[in-house]
Amino acid sequence: MTDFVSRSADVPVGTTFPWIADGFALGGDYSPEQWPESVWVEDIALMTEAGVNSLNVGVFSWGLLEIADGVFDWGWLDRIMDLLAEAGIGVNLATPTAAPPMWLMQAHPEIATVNQHGVRNSQGGRLGWYPSSATFRRYALRMVEAIATRYATHPALKLWHVSNELGNENAHSYDDETGRAWQVWLEKKFGTIEALNDAWGSAFWGHHYTAFTQIVPPRYTSTSHNPGLLLDFERFTSDALLDYYLAEREVLRRVTPNIPITTNFMVQNHPNGLDYARWATDVDLVANDHYTMGNDPETYGELAFSADRVRGMSGGDPWLLIEHSTSAVNWQPRNRAKAPGELTRNSLAHIARGADGALFFQWRQSTAGSEQFHSSVVPHAGARTKIFREVTALGKTLQGIREVVGSRVQPSQVAILFDYHSAMALKSGAKPTIDVNSLDVALAMHRELTARGIQVDVVHPSSPLAGYTAVLAPTLFLLAAADAASLSSYVENGGHLVVTSFSGIVTEHNRVIEGGYPGALRDLLGVRVEEFFPLFEGDTVGLAGDITGDGSWTGTIWSELMEVTTASVVARYTSGELAGLPSITLREVGAGTAQYVSTQLDRPSTGALLDLLIDRAGLTPVAPADRGLELVRRVAVTTDTDAAPTTWLFAINHSSGPLALDATGLDLVSGTRFTSGGSVAAGAVAVIREDTV
Ligand code: GLA
Repeated sequence: MTDFVSRSADVPVGTTFPWIADGFALGGDYSPEQWPESVWVEDIALMTEAGVNSLNVGVFSWGLLEIADGVFDWGWLDRIMDLLAEAGIGVNLATPTAAPPMWLMQAHPEIATVNQHGVRNSQGGRLGWYPSSATFRRYALRMVEAIATRYATHPALKLWHVSNELGNENAHSYDDETGRAWQVWLEKKFGTIEALNDAWGSAFWGHHYTAFTQIVPPRYTSTSHNPGLLLDFERFTSDALLDYYLAEREVLRRVTPNIPITTNFMVQNHPNGLDYARWATDVDLVANDHYTMGNDPETYGELAFSADRVRGMSGGDPWLLIEHSTSAVNWQPRNRAKAPGELTRNSLAHIARGADGALFFQWRQSTAGSEQFHSSVVPHAGARTKIFREVTALGKTLQGIREVVGSRVQPSQVAILFDYHSAMALKSGAKPTIDVNSLDVALAMHRELTARGIQVDVVHPSSPLAGYTAVLAPTLFLLAAADAASLSSYVENGGHLVVTSFSGIVTEHNRVIEGGYPGALRDLLGVRVEEFFPLFEGDTVGLAGDITGDGSWTGTIWSELMEVTTASVVARYTSGELAGLPSITLREVGAGTAQYVSTQLDRPSTGALLDLLIDRAGLTPVAPADRGLELVRRVAVTTDTDAAPTTWLFAINHSSGPLALDATGLDLVSGTRFTSGGSVAAGAVAVIREDTV
């Protein structure tokens, strides 16, 4: 068995995850337990035909493996593991703890999550347990130890897939045991109850605590909870789930020290949040689940943003797309099927942005159960289908580009800052409007830069920024003092910073910084905001000034009354209650600039603002191309400093017409030479091994 190199260890350059698959990983969630064994034979034949080499197995199979308390039946799993090993297909074996067996739910209904109203979750779903449950943990870790021991030396075992989407259905529980764990967490964090009172400002409404035991989870009240309390409850929840993951990991590490361990993250435009930047240091490879939203006509923009976020979490190391869909999901209000070619574009867009594999949920479409109408690799209609043909073609494409495995995405000139704590702080407590959220502006800016062929990294505010020509801080509501200081030195050293409204407002404790907004960045930006003027649904404000030329820009959702101190006004509001007052500013600091945008610009205005940034900072596209062509470059990792490293240009055309691209090299997808003045056909993807100059 191949030894693996942990991400937390000293990872040599060029390391990817060869322990999972030979080449790019391709495959998905496989639930053989849902089918008679006769179907398995056909499954394996079809997998071989499609080039599948990696499967997530056993994800929800606890009830079929531990059939009664302490009674195990490994027969079916033994047989399928053997068959997969013989076929040369690797298994990412799940610890099946996401869905507890019925006998366990019956014996210990108290392991189930409790909602804010005190109602306990019933059996029948999945992830219905809470991570602080000592009883659940005892049973779950016994199962983990049993499965790890059983398959420790099995040749099919390549990776441990811990549980499933921890925090998805069990993000919060408001039960008493969780409450006690929370009190312990708070005491560890604050030390004394006075420090907690101080941090949360619990004098408000006289919510003063004299002992940690008085603090309960934020259960239902007829008014709202303290924002500091709510934010710490989010952090506690992330830590409680992480602690649970680490408990499983500890068992797996002890029993199988040479098998890497991961768990599937849910990084996408998603309401639930876990502090994945922190979790990422505890997995041996970062693995992400991503699903496109059918009601977004440009869903590939969100995909690109999320994939860049995942790469930020993995520190630029290759990561694994461990789940996505071949076509429609079944959990959106209306589930859009993917257009022909979309599956390929989606998979290759993740790979362009650093994934070294693309797995699907799931292999064969269930006929029963909650997900019977969720797409799969082998649909209800069988293998003679658009989906199966496209997956098979994808398998061939991945073979054709396999030399790209292990390379890294080239460093980007632009960083967008994103922070879980800020996102959670924004959700914690009543705000001036319900329309501001932490992802919208970031995503809008990412989309516009991507459309202009500019590659972006999405990183945590504490990341080193010196290498970036421009840094964007969109709706960074909470900004730690150290991170604000880092932004100041970034600009002083010649960097170009753009900050948008409702950033730098609160401290780590979700308390407002006084003296004029944005308290954390006021001096750097040279502005002092006195009052927020949120807009009503559908209302807009006009903006005009030096930067808008003869035209007019449009702001939505938000506006602000601000005094400009050391910055220059580059646009003013032209309508609404703030007409005539400053809306966008620019402060020059040596060779650097700090720009402040006090509203949420609409799409054309966001593009226009970024065009000005592109000029000011001298940003360049990955390659000259028509607007809209998605471009990312991956670069070979080499220790040979004399030769230029091999580079691969990924060009993805999401439009219905050809898009021009100025590049030369061999297109590994079509097998033909791409020459300057060429174009990428409608809906096509090119992966060009670029000629060296
Ligand atoms: C998640 C889960 C899978 C499946 C898919 C459906 O990602 O991990 O088990 O339910 O959603 O889209």
